[in-house]
Amino acid sequence: MLINSNIFVFYTVTDIGVCNETKQGMIPRSGVYFIIVLTAVIILFRTGPGKRGPIFQSYDPELFAKVKDSIFEGFDNLIGTKNSSNIVPNYVHFLFFGNPRISYVHSVCILAAFRNQKPERIYFHTNIKEFKGPHWIKIRDTLGSVLHFANVTLPTEIFGHKFTRPYHVYHASDVTRIRILMEYGGIFLDNDSYIVKSLDPFRRYEMTIGVTNGEYLGTQVLIAHKDARFLKLWLECYRDYQAHSFYFNAGEKPMVEIIRRKPELVHSIRYSLGVEGLTRNLYVWDTWSNWRRYYSIHLMIRHRRYMDTLWNYLQWRTLDESNICDYPHPFGEMAREVYSDFCPRSQTDLPSETVLSSLD
Ligand SMILES: *[C@@H]1O[C@H](CO)[C@@H](O)[C@H](O)[C@H]1NC(C)=O
Ligand SMILES: *[C@@H]1O[C@H](CO)[C@@H](O)[C@H](O)[C@H]1NC(C)=O
Ligand SMILES: *[C@@H]1O[C@H](CO)[C@@H](O)[C@H](O)[C@H]1NC(C)=O
Repeated sequence: MLINSNIFVFYTVTDIGVCNETKQGMIPRSGVYFIIVLTAVIILFRTGPGKRGPIFQSYDPELFAKVKDSIFEGFDNLIGTKNSSNIVPNYVHFLFFGNPRISYVHSVCILAAFRNQKPERIYFHTNIKEFKGPHWIKIRDTLGSVLHFANVTLPTEIFGHKFTRPYHVYHASDVTRIRILMEYGGIFLDNDSYIVKSLDPFRRYEMTIGVTNGEYLGTQVLIAHKDARFLKLWLECYRDYQAHSFYFNAGEKPMVEIIRRKPELVHSIRYSLGVEGLTRNLYVWDTWSNWRRYYSIHLMIRHRRYMDTLWNYLQWRTLDESNICDYPHPFGEMAREVYSDFCPRSQTDLPSETVLSSLD
């Protein structure tokens, strides 16, 4: 894309030069050369090493050969299992790092997963020894024996490539989510992914993914059997690791080099997993009853800072128990529906019984 737009600039500039020359015969030749050289320098500068945009590899038969002995060889991810039985365990996985205090928004997501998915287990993969604070108490008491812990430390490298700033933590946790799914199978959720209704219809596929705005793989909600072929191939994508690109190895490369070439490896969902960036609907709109038509919604809570309107952001810097009871945008209703014990009764929303068809 970057390269194309530069070529476009190049042609435009030379066209203007030629056009001026023929019409007026006034532009000195050296001026045209100067523009051409300048454009070439700009192209080199913008596409040179270190400024690499997404560069994708051509089809690699050796990559796909790595999964040819899989138990899923020939499995049809459009239809799922022949007898419609579920093959993905009803486990929900979250990753929590560094902070023993669970925020209000994270606890909303944990409680939504518990209430709407009704999982057999919810795993916290974490390096925290002891969680603290009122939201932790609420989660502990609500989840009871459904809650399980697994110790995990973030890796420092992948296939010999070091994770470096600024994306170290994100990239390390991207790799960790693949490994967690390869170990247990189940439903992996970002710590701000909200389950609206049961994801069970997807538990009969080898693996289900959502697609983001840029037509890339959404990593925020993943449903997979532990032996899913795509998990193994996705991890292989990190052999060509791009430390400076936020989403290249996690979402771009696997979509372009694996899923587009072999779409049958996964069950792809265009809209109803809600990973396409719905910040306006959640935080700017006044009403949005269609949120109930999604299976899940990624809240993009860290991105509100620049995606919400400045006015809204200044008014609600964080969303938590101090302001959620009368927060008027659609996320308020979603949050209160699962966690509003502390709100005055008159401010809690009446449960809606409307059942809407899904989007995909
Ligand atoms: C569905 O088929 C699988 C084998 O493909 C079998 O293991 C499983 O028991 C079947 N489930 C039901 C409910 O018939
Ligand atoms: C939640 O996930 C984000 C990255 O997706 C991370 O920056 C943040 O630290 C996580 N929060 C906790 C408590 O682990
Ligand atoms: C996690 O590690 C700690 C020691 O660092 C240990 O006490 C604890 O039992 C471990 N938890 C699990 C679930 O393995």
